[in-house]
Amino acid sequence: MITTIEKNEMICENLKRDMSGELCFANMPLTPLAKKYGTPLYLYDEERIRQRCRTYLAAVRETFGEDAQVLYASKAASFKRIYEIMKEEGMGTDVVSRGEIYTAGLADFPLERAYFHSNNKTDEDIAYAIKAGVGYFVVDNSEELFAIDEIAGRQRKRQKILLRITPGIDPHTYAAVATGKVDSKFGSAIETGQAEEITALALSLPSVELCGFHCHVGSQIFDSEVYLATTRVMLKFTKDIYDSLGFMAKELDIGGGWGVRYVKEQPTIDIAENIKKVGAAMKAYACELRIELPKISFEPGRSIVADAGLTLYTVGTVKRIPGYKSYVSVDGGMTDNPRFALYGSPYTILPVAGDVPEDYELCSVVGRCCESGDILQENVPMPRDIKRGDLLACLTTGAYHYSMASNYNKIPRPPVVMLADGESYVAVKRESPEHLAALDV
Ligand code: LLP
Repeated sequence: MITTIEKNEMICENLKRDMSGELCFANMPLTPLAKKYGTPLYLYDEERIRQRCRTYLAAVRETFGEDAQVLYASKAASFKRIYEIMKEEGMGTDVVSRGEIYTAGLADFPLERAYFHSNNKTDEDIAYAIKAGVGYFVVDNSEELFAIDEIAGRQRKRQKILLRITPGIDPHTYAAVATGKVDSKFGSAIETGQAEEITALALSLPSVELCGFHCHVGSQIFDSEVYLATTRVMLKFTKDIYDSLGFMAKELDIGGGWGVRYVKEQPTIDIAENIKKVGAAMKAYACELRIELPKISFEPGRSIVADAGLTLYTVGTVKRIPGYKSYVSVDGGMTDNPRFALYGSPYTILPVAGDVPEDYELCSVVGRCCESGDILQENVPMPRDIKRGDLLACLTTGAYHYSMASNYNKIPRPPVVMLADGESYVAVKRESPEHLAALDV
Protein backbone atom coordinates (compact mmCIF):
# COMPACT_ATOMS: atom_id res chain seq x y z
CA MET A 1 0.00 0.00 0.00
CA ILE A 2 1.24 3.48 -0.82
CA THR A 3 1.20 5.99 2.01
CA THR A 4 1.58 9.73 1.83
CA ILE A 5 5.11 10.33 3.01
CA GLU A 6 6.22 12.88 0.45
CA LYS A 7 5.37 16.48 1.17
CA ASN A 8 4.05 19.46 -0.81
CA GLU A 9 2.59 17.46 -3.62
CA MET A 10 0.60 19.29 -6.26
CA ILE A 11 -0.72 16.12 -7.79
CA CYS A 12 -3.17 17.73 -10.20
CA GLU A 13 -3.00 20.82 -12.43
CA ASN A 14 -5.92 22.51 -10.68
CA LEU A 15 -3.90 22.93 -7.45
CA LYS A 16 -1.30 25.54 -6.69
CA ARG A 17 -0.01 27.81 -3.93
CA ASP A 18 -0.32 31.58 -4.29
CA MET A 19 2.40 34.10 -3.38
CA SER A 20 1.49 33.93 0.29
CA GLY A 21 1.72 30.13 0.28
CA GLU A 22 -2.04 29.63 0.50
CA LEU A 23 -3.36 26.54 -1.26
CA CYS A 24 -5.62 27.35 -4.22
CA PHE A 25 -7.99 24.98 -5.99
CA ALA A 26 -9.56 25.84 -9.34
CA ASN A 27 -7.73 29.17 -9.00
CA MET A 28 -9.50 30.03 -5.75
CA PRO A 29 -7.79 30.39 -2.36
CA LEU A 30 -9.26 27.97 0.14
CA THR A 31 -9.38 29.98 3.38
CA PRO A 32 -12.13 32.37 2.18
CA LEU A 33 -14.19 29.36 1.02
CA ALA A 34 -13.84 27.73 4.44
CA LYS A 35 -14.96 31.01 6.03
CA LYS A 36 -17.92 31.39 3.72
CA TYR A 37 -19.26 27.82 3.82
CA GLY A 38 -17.74 26.31 6.96
CA THR A 39 -15.98 22.96 7.19
CA PRO A 40 -15.94 20.08 6.49
CA LEU A 41 -16.62 21.10 2.93
CA TYR A 42 -16.66 19.25 -0.36
CA LEU A 43 -15.45 21.41 -3.22
CA TYR A 44 -15.70 20.64 -6.95
CA ASP A 45 -13.85 22.25 -9.81
CA GLU A 46 -16.59 22.42 -12.44
CA GLU A 47 -14.25 23.18 -15.32
CA ARG A 48 -12.18 20.10 -14.52
CA ILE A 49 -15.29 17.88 -14.65
CA ARG A 50 -16.27 19.38 -17.99
CA GLN A 51 -12.74 18.95 -19.34
CA ARG A 52 -12.74 15.27 -18.42
CA CYS A 53 -16.08 14.71 -20.14
CA ARG A 54 -14.78 16.43 -23.28
CA THR A 55 -11.55 14.45 -23.25
CA TYR A 56 -13.46 11.18 -23.02
CA LEU A 57 -16.08 12.09 -25.60
CA ALA A 58 -13.55 13.38 -28.13
CA ALA A 59 -11.35 10.30 -27.70
CA VAL A 60 -14.12 7.71 -28.01
CA ARG A 61 -15.70 9.44 -31.00
CA GLU A 62 -12.39 9.87 -32.76
CA THR A 63 -11.56 6.23 -32.11
CA PHE A 64 -14.88 4.48 -32.53
CA GLY A 65 -17.03 6.89 -34.53
CA GLU A 66 -19.76 9.40 -33.77
CA ASP A 67 -22.21 6.92 -32.25
CA ALA A 68 -19.77 5.87 -29.50
CA GLN A 69 -20.88 7.08 -26.08
CA VAL A 70 -19.49 7.86 -22.65
CA LEU A 71 -21.72 7.09 -19.70
CA TYR A 72 -20.84 8.85 -16.48
CA ALA A 73 -21.00 6.25 -13.68
CA SER A 74 -22.96 8.41 -11.32
CA LYS A 75 -22.32 6.24 -8.26
CA ALA A 76 -19.04 8.17 -8.11
CA ALA A 77 -20.91 11.36 -7.21
CA SER A 78 -24.65 11.65 -7.58
CA PHE A 79 -26.43 14.95 -7.06
CA LYS A 80 -28.69 17.07 -9.22
CA ARG A 81 -26.05 19.53 -10.43
CA ILE A 82 -23.70 16.80 -11.62
CA TYR A 83 -26.45 15.33 -13.83
CA GLU A 84 -27.09 18.83 -15.23
CA ILE A 85 -23.41 19.12 -16.12
CA MET A 86 -23.48 15.65 -17.72
CA LYS A 87 -26.56 16.61 -19.71
CA GLU A 88 -24.91 19.82 -20.90
CA GLU A 89 -21.78 17.93 -21.93
CA GLY A 90 -23.75 15.37 -23.93
CA MET A 91 -22.81 12.43 -21.72
CA GLY A 92 -24.91 9.36 -20.97
CA THR A 93 -25.10 8.06 -17.42
CA ASP A 94 -24.96 4.82 -15.48
CA VAL A 95 -27.47 4.66 -12.64
CA VAL A 96 -27.83 1.91 -10.05
CA SER A 97 -30.88 2.76 -8.03
CA ARG A 98 -34.21 4.47 -7.99
CA GLY A 99 -32.55 7.30 -6.04
CA GLU A 100 -30.05 7.94 -8.81
CA ILE A 101 -32.74 7.76 -11.49
CA TYR A 102 -34.91 10.15 -9.52
CA THR A 103 -32.06 12.62 -9.01
CA ALA A 104 -31.10 12.46 -12.69
CA GLY A 105 -34.77 13.13 -13.48
CA LEU A 106 -34.73 16.22 -11.25
CA ALA A 107 -31.95 17.56 -13.45
CA ASP A 108 -34.02 16.82 -16.58
CA PHE A 109 -31.31 14.44 -17.64
CA PRO A 110 -32.49 12.69 -20.83
CA LEU A 111 -33.18 9.28 -19.33
CA GLU A 112 -33.05 7.57 -22.70
CA ARG A 113 -29.28 8.04 -22.24
CA ALA A 114 -29.36 6.30 -18.84
CA TYR A 115 -28.21 2.71 -18.30
CA PHE A 116 -29.68 1.01 -15.27
CA HIS A 117 -27.22 -1.29 -13.47
CA SER A 118 -27.21 -3.26 -10.19
CA ASN A 119 -27.03 -6.97 -9.44
CA ASN A 120 -30.35 -6.96 -7.63
CA LYS A 121 -32.96 -4.64 -9.03
CA THR A 122 -36.16 -4.91 -7.06
CA ASP A 123 -39.52 -5.23 -8.81
CA GLU A 124 -40.31 -1.70 -7.64
CA ASP A 125 -37.04 -0.38 -9.10
CA ILE A 126 -37.74 -2.12 -12.39
CA ALA A 127 -41.28 -0.77 -12.68
CA TYR A 128 -40.12 2.72 -11.73
CA ALA A 129 -37.24 2.75 -14.21
CA ILE A 130 -39.32 1.47 -17.13
CA LYS A 131 -42.01 4.03 -16.39
CA ALA A 132 -39.42 6.81 -16.09
CA GLY A 133 -38.16 5.94 -19.59
CA VAL A 134 -34.68 4.71 -18.69
CA GLY A 135 -33.07 3.87 -22.03
CA TYR A 136 -31.32 0.64 -21.19
CA PHE A 137 -31.27 -1.94 -18.45
CA VAL A 138 -27.98 -3.70 -17.92
CA VAL A 139 -29.31 -7.09 -16.90
CA ASP A 140 -27.31 -9.01 -14.35
CA ASN A 141 -28.91 -12.46 -14.24
CA SER A 142 -31.76 -14.54 -15.61
CA GLU A 143 -34.04 -14.12 -12.61
CA GLU A 144 -33.91 -10.38 -13.16
CA LEU A 145 -34.37 -10.83 -16.88
CA PHE A 146 -37.69 -12.63 -16.31
CA ALA A 147 -38.81 -9.86 -13.95
CA ILE A 148 -37.95 -7.10 -16.45
CA ASP A 149 -39.70 -8.93 -19.26
CA GLU A 150 -42.81 -9.40 -17.18
CA ILE A 151 -42.96 -5.84 -15.82
CA ALA A 152 -42.20 -4.29 -19.23
CA GLY A 153 -44.93 -6.49 -20.72
CA ARG A 154 -47.39 -5.24 -18.12
CA GLN A 155 -46.50 -1.66 -19.03
CA ARG A 156 -46.87 -2.61 -22.72
CA LYS A 157 -43.28 -1.68 -23.44
CA ARG A 158 -40.34 -3.41 -25.04
CA GLN A 159 -37.32 -2.54 -22.88
CA LYS A 160 -33.88 -2.26 -24.43
CA ILE A 161 -31.30 -4.26 -22.55
CA LEU A 162 -27.63 -5.14 -22.44
CA LEU A 163 -26.48 -8.26 -20.64
CA ARG A 164 -23.76 -7.94 -18.02
CA ILE A 165 -21.15 -10.51 -18.86
CA THR A 166 -18.35 -11.64 -16.53
CA PRO A 167 -15.27 -12.05 -18.69
CA GLY A 168 -13.15 -13.76 -16.04
CA ILE A 169 -10.55 -11.02 -15.77
CA ASP A 170 -8.88 -10.08 -12.49
CA PRO A 171 -7.80 -6.42 -12.61
CA HIS A 172 -5.42 -6.91 -9.63
CA THR A 173 -6.46 -3.78 -7.81
CA TYR A 174 -8.30 -4.20 -4.49
CA ALA A 175 -10.78 -6.95 -3.76
CA ALA A 176 -13.74 -4.66 -3.11
CA VAL A 177 -13.67 -3.32 -6.67
CA ALA A 178 -12.70 -6.45 -8.64
CA THR A 179 -15.88 -7.33 -10.49
CA GLY A 180 -14.80 -9.19 -13.59
CA LYS A 181 -13.76 -12.47 -11.98
CA VAL A 182 -15.91 -15.57 -12.50
CA ASP A 183 -16.84 -15.77 -8.80
CA SER A 184 -18.04 -12.14 -8.74
CA LYS A 185 -21.54 -11.31 -7.55
CA PHE A 186 -22.00 -9.36 -10.78
CA GLY A 187 -23.07 -10.63 -14.15
CA SER A 188 -23.20 -13.96 -15.94
CA ALA A 189 -19.93 -15.72 -16.57
CA ILE A 190 -18.71 -16.84 -19.96
CA GLU A 191 -16.68 -19.66 -18.44
CA THR A 192 -19.66 -21.38 -16.79
CA GLY A 193 -21.87 -21.18 -19.87
CA GLN A 194 -24.32 -18.89 -18.06
CA ALA A 195 -23.50 -15.97 -20.36
CA GLU A 196 -24.62 -17.91 -23.40
CA GLU A 197 -27.67 -19.24 -21.56
CA ILE A 198 -28.86 -15.79 -20.58
CA THR A 199 -28.30 -14.53 -24.13
CA ALA A 200 -30.51 -17.29 -25.52
CA LEU A 201 -33.10 -16.53 -22.88
CA ALA A 202 -33.08 -12.78 -23.64
CA LEU A 203 -33.61 -13.52 -27.33
CA SER A 204 -36.64 -15.65 -26.51
CA LEU A 205 -38.52 -13.12 -24.38
CA PRO A 206 -41.12 -10.82 -25.96
CA SER A 207 -40.82 -7.62 -23.90
CA VAL A 208 -37.08 -7.09 -23.92
CA GLU A 209 -34.93 -6.08 -26.87
CA LEU A 210 -31.41 -7.39 -26.58
CA CYS A 211 -28.99 -4.75 -27.88
CA GLY A 212 -25.68 -6.16 -26.78
CA PHE A 213 -23.31 -6.81 -23.92
CA HIS A 214 -21.70 -5.05 -21.01
CA CYS A 215 -18.74 -5.77 -18.77
CA HIS A 216 -16.90 -3.93 -16.03
CA VAL A 217 -13.89 -5.63 -14.52
CA GLY A 218 -12.85 -3.28 -11.73
CA SER A 219 -11.82 0.15 -10.62
CA GLN A 220 -8.66 2.22 -10.07
CA ILE A 221 -6.95 0.37 -12.95
CA PHE A 222 -3.69 1.81 -14.29
CA ASP A 223 -2.70 -0.97 -16.65
CA SER A 224 -4.22 -0.78 -20.13
CA GLU A 225 -3.42 -4.50 -20.54
CA VAL A 226 -6.51 -5.14 -18.40
CA TYR A 227 -8.67 -3.42 -21.03
CA LEU A 228 -6.86 -5.11 -23.90
CA ALA A 229 -7.49 -8.52 -22.34
CA THR A 230 -11.09 -7.71 -21.41
CA THR A 231 -12.10 -6.37 -24.80
CA ARG A 232 -10.53 -9.40 -26.49
CA VAL A 233 -12.61 -11.74 -24.38
CA MET A 234 -15.75 -9.69 -25.03
CA LEU A 235 -15.22 -9.56 -28.79
CA LYS A 236 -14.56 -13.29 -28.89
CA PHE A 237 -17.75 -13.85 -26.91
CA THR A 238 -19.66 -11.58 -29.33
CA LYS A 239 -18.41 -13.65 -32.24
CA ASP A 240 -19.11 -16.98 -30.51
CA ILE A 241 -22.67 -15.89 -29.77
CA TYR A 242 -23.13 -14.89 -33.38
CA ASP A 243 -21.92 -18.33 -34.44
CA SER A 244 -24.01 -20.23 -31.92
CA LEU A 245 -27.22 -18.16 -31.70
CA GLY A 246 -27.09 -16.00 -34.81
CA PHE A 247 -27.30 -12.84 -32.69
CA MET A 248 -24.89 -10.04 -33.55
CA ALA A 249 -24.50 -7.52 -30.73
CA LYS A 250 -25.16 -3.94 -31.79
CA GLU A 251 -23.61 -2.48 -28.65
CA LEU A 252 -20.70 -3.24 -26.40
CA ASP A 253 -20.23 -1.33 -23.16
CA ILE A 254 -16.80 -1.94 -21.70
CA GLY A 255 -17.35 -0.36 -18.32
CA GLY A 256 -15.29 2.12 -16.38
CA GLY A 257 -12.36 1.72 -14.07
CA TRP A 258 -9.50 3.96 -15.16
CA GLY A 259 -7.34 4.89 -12.20
CA VAL A 260 -6.65 8.34 -10.83
CA ARG A 261 -3.75 9.84 -8.97
CA TYR A 262 -4.30 10.16 -5.23
CA VAL A 263 -0.61 10.42 -4.31
CA LYS A 264 2.56 11.41 -6.10
CA GLU A 265 3.72 7.80 -6.47
CA GLN A 266 0.76 7.05 -8.74
CA PRO A 267 0.76 8.02 -12.41
CA THR A 268 -1.65 10.33 -14.18
CA ILE A 269 -3.34 8.33 -16.90
CA ASP A 270 -3.60 9.76 -20.39
CA ILE A 271 -7.20 8.78 -21.05
CA ALA A 272 -7.21 9.73 -24.74
CA GLU A 273 -4.04 7.71 -25.43
CA ASN A 274 -5.42 4.68 -23.63
CA ILE A 275 -8.73 4.78 -25.46
CA LYS A 276 -6.90 5.00 -28.77
CA LYS A 277 -4.70 2.07 -27.82
CA VAL A 278 -7.64 -0.09 -26.79
CA GLY A 279 -9.56 1.02 -29.88
CA ALA A 280 -6.76 0.06 -32.26
CA ALA A 281 -6.49 -3.39 -30.67
CA MET A 282 -10.25 -3.90 -30.78
CA LYS A 283 -10.48 -2.93 -34.44
CA ALA A 284 -7.66 -5.27 -35.38
CA TYR A 285 -9.17 -8.16 -33.43
CA ALA A 286 -12.68 -7.55 -34.79
CA CYS A 287 -11.15 -7.69 -38.26
CA GLU A 288 -9.44 -10.96 -37.43
CA LEU A 289 -12.73 -12.38 -36.13
CA ARG A 290 -14.51 -11.02 -39.21
CA ILE A 291 -17.12 -9.14 -37.24
CA GLU A 292 -18.08 -5.49 -37.28
CA LEU A 293 -17.24 -3.55 -34.18
CA PRO A 294 -20.48 -2.89 -32.26
CA LYS A 295 -21.33 0.61 -31.00
CA ILE A 296 -18.89 1.13 -28.13
CA SER A 297 -19.49 2.81 -24.80
CA PHE A 298 -17.30 3.49 -21.80
CA GLU A 299 -18.57 4.06 -18.29
CA PRO A 300 -16.06 6.06 -16.26
CA GLY A 301 -16.92 7.43 -12.85
CA ARG A 302 -13.79 8.05 -10.81
CA SER A 303 -11.71 9.44 -13.67
CA ILE A 304 -14.41 12.01 -14.48
CA VAL A 305 -14.79 13.53 -11.03
CA ALA A 306 -12.08 12.38 -8.60
CA ASP A 307 -9.44 15.05 -9.08
CA ALA A 308 -12.15 17.67 -9.58
CA GLY A 309 -12.89 17.27 -5.87
CA LEU A 310 -11.20 18.33 -2.65
CA THR A 311 -12.34 18.23 0.98
CA LEU A 312 -11.55 21.02 3.41
CA TYR A 313 -11.32 20.35 7.14
CA THR A 314 -10.55 22.33 10.27
CA VAL A 315 -8.07 20.87 12.72
CA GLY A 316 -9.34 20.23 16.25
CA THR A 317 -7.42 18.21 18.82
CA VAL A 318 -3.73 17.59 18.19
CA LYS A 319 -2.55 14.73 20.38
CA ARG A 320 1.05 13.62 20.80
CA ILE A 321 1.74 10.33 22.55
CA PRO A 322 5.48 10.56 23.30
CA GLY A 323 7.43 7.65 21.86
CA TYR A 324 4.35 6.42 19.97
CA LYS A 325 2.31 8.52 17.63
CA SER A 326 0.84 11.92 16.87
CA TYR A 327 -2.75 12.47 15.90
CA VAL A 328 -4.23 15.45 14.10
CA SER A 329 -8.02 15.31 14.41
CA VAL A 330 -10.27 17.07 11.94
CA ASP A 331 -13.95 17.99 11.98
CA GLY A 332 -14.86 15.30 9.43
CA GLY A 333 -13.58 11.74 9.02
CA MET A 334 -14.91 8.36 7.95
CA THR A 335 -18.40 9.81 7.64
CA ASP A 336 -17.40 12.01 4.69
CA ASN A 337 -14.53 9.79 3.52
CA PRO A 338 -14.75 6.09 4.40
CA ARG A 339 -12.18 5.02 1.81
CA PHE A 340 -9.15 4.63 4.05
CA ALA A 341 -11.23 2.74 6.61
CA LEU A 342 -12.66 0.50 3.88
CA TYR A 343 -9.79 0.01 1.46
CA GLY A 344 -6.70 1.57 3.03
CA SER A 345 -6.72 4.05 0.16
CA PRO A 346 -3.84 6.52 -0.06
CA TYR A 347 -4.48 10.27 0.04
CA THR A 348 -2.53 13.48 -0.08
CA ILE A 349 -3.44 15.80 2.78
CA LEU A 350 -1.94 19.29 2.84
CA PRO A 351 -2.06 22.28 5.18
CA VAL A 352 -3.90 25.12 3.50
CA ALA A 353 -1.93 28.06 4.95
CA GLY A 354 1.50 27.16 3.61
CA ASP A 355 3.93 24.46 2.56
CA VAL A 356 4.91 21.70 4.94
CA PRO A 357 8.33 22.74 6.33
CA GLU A 358 11.44 20.56 5.87
CA ASP A 359 11.26 19.68 9.53
CA TYR A 360 7.86 18.03 9.42
CA GLU A 361 6.25 15.55 11.75
CA LEU A 362 4.50 12.39 10.53
CA CYS A 363 0.98 12.31 11.92
CA SER A 364 -2.18 10.26 11.59
CA VAL A 365 -4.98 12.46 10.36
CA VAL A 366 -8.12 11.16 12.02
CA GLY A 367 -11.79 12.04 12.20
CA ARG A 368 -14.16 12.71 15.04
CA CYS A 369 -16.18 9.50 15.10
CA CYS A 370 -16.28 7.22 18.10
CA GLU A 371 -14.24 4.56 16.33
CA SER A 372 -10.50 3.85 16.25
CA GLY A 373 -10.68 3.00 12.56
CA ASP A 374 -11.86 6.53 11.81
CA ILE A 375 -8.64 7.44 10.04
CA LEU A 376 -8.27 9.54 6.91
CA GLN A 377 -4.60 8.77 6.43
CA GLU A 378 -1.51 7.65 8.34
CA ASN A 379 2.02 9.07 8.09
CA VAL A 380 1.01 12.46 6.80
CA PRO A 381 3.77 15.10 6.94
CA MET A 382 2.46 17.98 9.04
CA PRO A 383 4.05 21.19 10.32
CA ARG A 384 5.21 20.75 13.93
CA ASP A 385 3.15 23.76 14.98
CA ILE A 386 -0.11 22.43 13.50
CA LYS A 387 -2.89 23.52 15.83
CA ARG A 388 -6.60 23.78 16.48
CA GLY A 389 -8.26 26.03 13.89
CA ASP A 390 -5.78 25.36 11.05
CA LEU A 391 -7.22 24.22 7.74
CA LEU A 392 -6.30 20.98 5.97
CA ALA A 393 -7.16 19.94 2.43
CA CYS A 394 -7.58 16.31 1.45
CA LEU A 395 -7.04 16.04 -2.30
CA THR A 396 -8.76 13.95 -4.95
CA THR A 397 -12.02 13.45 -3.10
CA GLY A 398 -14.45 13.96 -5.97
CA ALA A 399 -15.31 10.28 -6.46
CA TYR A 400 -16.92 7.95 -3.94
CA HIS A 401 -16.85 10.46 -1.09
CA TYR A 402 -20.07 12.46 -1.10
CA SER A 403 -21.78 9.38 -2.55
CA MET A 404 -20.42 7.08 0.16
CA ALA A 405 -20.81 9.48 3.07
CA SER A 406 -22.77 8.32 6.10
CA ASN A 407 -24.38 9.82 9.15
CA TYR A 408 -22.61 7.59 11.66
CA ASN A 409 -22.70 9.21 15.10
CA LYS A 410 -25.49 11.40 13.68
CA ILE A 411 -22.88 13.53 11.96
CA PRO A 412 -24.44 15.68 9.23
CA ARG A 413 -22.91 15.42 5.76
CA PRO A 414 -20.93 18.38 4.42
CA PRO A 415 -22.30 20.56 1.65
CA VAL A 416 -21.13 20.33 -1.95
CA VAL A 417 -19.85 23.63 -3.30
CA MET A 418 -18.95 24.07 -6.95
CA LEU A 419 -16.18 26.38 -8.15
CA ALA A 420 -16.47 27.89 -11.62
CA ASP A 421 -14.83 30.94 -13.20
CA GLY A 422 -13.59 32.25 -9.87
CA GLU A 423 -17.06 32.02 -8.30
CA SER A 424 -18.54 29.50 -5.91
CA TYR A 425 -22.07 28.20 -5.52
CA VAL A 426 -23.81 25.56 -3.42
CA ALA A 427 -24.89 22.41 -5.25
CA VAL A 428 -25.92 20.45 -2.14
CA LYS A 429 -26.69 22.16 1.16
CA ARG A 430 -25.08 21.23 4.46
CA GLU A 431 -27.14 18.76 6.48
CA SER A 432 -28.25 19.69 9.95
CA PRO A 433 -29.15 17.55 12.97
CA GLU A 434 -32.78 18.44 12.18
CA HIS A 435 -32.46 16.83 8.72
CA LEU A 436 -31.06 13.73 10.35
CA ALA A 437 -33.95 13.43 12.76
CA ALA A 438 -36.60 14.45 10.23
CA LEU A 439 -37.82 10.91 9.61
CA ASP A 440 -37.89 9.87 13.26
CA VAL A 441 -41.50 9.44 14.46
N1 LLP B 1 -19.56 0.68 -14.38
C1 LLP B 1 -19.91 -0.20 -13.43
C2 LLP B 1 -20.82 -1.26 -13.77
C3 LLP B 1 -19.38 -0.09 -12.15
O1 LLP B 1 -19.72 -0.97 -11.24
C4 LLP B 1 -18.51 0.97 -11.84
C5 LLP B 1 -17.95 1.12 -10.50
C6 LLP B 1 -18.18 1.88 -12.85
C7 LLP B 1 -18.72 1.71 -14.11
C8 LLP B 1 -17.27 3.06 -12.63
O2 LLP B 1 -15.99 2.68 -12.25
P1 LLP B 1 -14.87 3.81 -12.06
O3 LLP B 1 -14.61 4.41 -13.41
O4 LLP B 1 -15.41 4.80 -11.11
O5 LLP B 1 -13.72 3.08 -11.51
N2 LLP B 1 -16.38 2.56 -3.83
C9 LLP B 1 -15.19 2.15 -4.52
C10 LLP B 1 -15.42 2.07 -6.00
C11 LLP B 1 -16.53 1.14 -6.37
C12 LLP B 1 -16.72 1.08 -7.87
C13 LLP B 1 -17.99 0.42 -8.18
N3 LLP B 1 -18.29 0.34 -9.56
C14 LLP B 1 -14.06 3.10 -4.20
O6 LLP B 1 -14.30 4.07 -3.52
O7 LLP B 1 -12.93 2.86 -4.62
